[in-house]
Amino acid sequence: MIKKFLDLGFQPLANKYLKKPKKLSKKNNDLYRLEVMFDTKTKLVSLKKKIPVKKMFNDKYPYRSSMSKTMPLAFKKLSKIIKKRFNPMKILEIGSNDGALIQNFNKDKAICVEPCGNLAKITKSKGYFTYSNYWNMKLSKKIKNKFKSVDVIYSANTITHIENLHNVFKSISYVLSDDGVLIIEDPSLLECLKKVSYDQFYNEHIYLFSSIALSNILKEFDLEIFDIEKLQTHGGSLRYYIKRKKNNFLQVKKRVGQQIRLEKKFKLHKFSTYLQFKIKVKKSKIRLINILKNLKSSNQIIIGYGATAKVTTILNYCEINNKLIDFFVDTTPDKKNKYVPGTNIIVKKYDKNLINMSRYLFLGAWNFKNEIFKKEKKFIKHGGKFITHIPFPKII
Ligand code: TMP
Repeated sequence: MIKKFLDLGFQPLANKYLKKPKKLSKKNNDLYRLEVMFDTKTKLVSLKKKIPVKKMFNDKYPYRSSMSKTMPLAFKKLSKIIKKRFNPMKILEIGSNDGALIQNFNKDKAICVEPCGNLAKITKSKGYFTYSNYWNMKLSKKIKNKFKSVDVIYSANTITHIENLHNVFKSISYVLSDDGVLIIEDPSLLECLKKVSYDQFYNEHIYLFSSIALSNILKEFDLEIFDIEKLQTHGGSLRYYIKRKKNNFLQVKKRVGQQIRLEKKFKLHKFSTYLQFKIKVKKSKIRLINILKNLKSSNQIIIGYGATAKVTTILNYCEINNKLIDFFVDTTPDKKNKYVPGTNIIVKKYDKNLINMSRYLFLGAWNFKNEIFKKEKKFIKHGGKFITHIPFPKII
């Protein structure tokens, strides 16, 4: 049975930055209802309303993996691990974005899949073989015909963005060699619940995996998780190493059972846990609004730092407008001088002088907290403060 536990109200597409603030309406399909569900059978957490893929991932997709320092560094480290542990003859990346990971591999060993044309163009221009297509069986067959099979398939923050999970894993299983390895990484449901990071929910994040749910789903395809790593990226992610059950060369590590036990201890398999989460989310909203209103009552300028996709969920759920946050700064060129979806808050190009206009920055990109605190050492030294809502709204 699939049960609802959270309603984050009407929301726009999280990455649809507009040049002019526009009054969005349900009638024109500008808004959708963001409701989050729990499947009591598979234990999978998912969004109720799934937005058609072409509306989300197209030639205007603004997110670039290479825009932070954190992600390219993490990818460099990972590519070394993959080479050492699995030494792939062919590596396929599903959702290769601007090539932040794949550029660490030889061009003749790599295949990129990236449906967003603007991003696919970047890896193509770097000389990488790139299919500008959505991941599905048709493409998997095409790749198998051309390359026979693939020994490593890697996908970060992509699998959970694709509605038909059954098709995703079937197509992966079709092209993966018998002793091949699938590596996926996505935000961790356990971390989301612990941090009350309800902003992990937005239209692109159709699913939020726990190891419990993923193990249940993989069974159907005779696949299993054989190793798990905890990552700091995207607010706390898990990297799953997956193999065919019949492949006995790779042993299932103790870490897999440990993670599943940890999730069970936190009762991720019980619906009641999600109802408690819902209460925490409501409290988080009230507290954040109070902090912003208090600061505004003493005429403070508040600047948002990092217009992440998550920010769209927060601002629209908490009904925060430019009376509470004056503007955002962000390093992504495509977001410059555009408005955070569903709001009248403009995003300006990151500039130290802008930051220094204020003593209070709202940490939109909380998932890059360490990198940002390092970068803004001076601001902090001179008494500047950050407002964060993770794990509960406070000024730090
Ligand atoms: P994400 O959390 O959806 O991956 O987006 C991160 C956003 O934060 C992206 O738009 C870039 C922005 N950002 C900054 O503006 N400055 C920074 O120092 C960092 C790390 C990220």
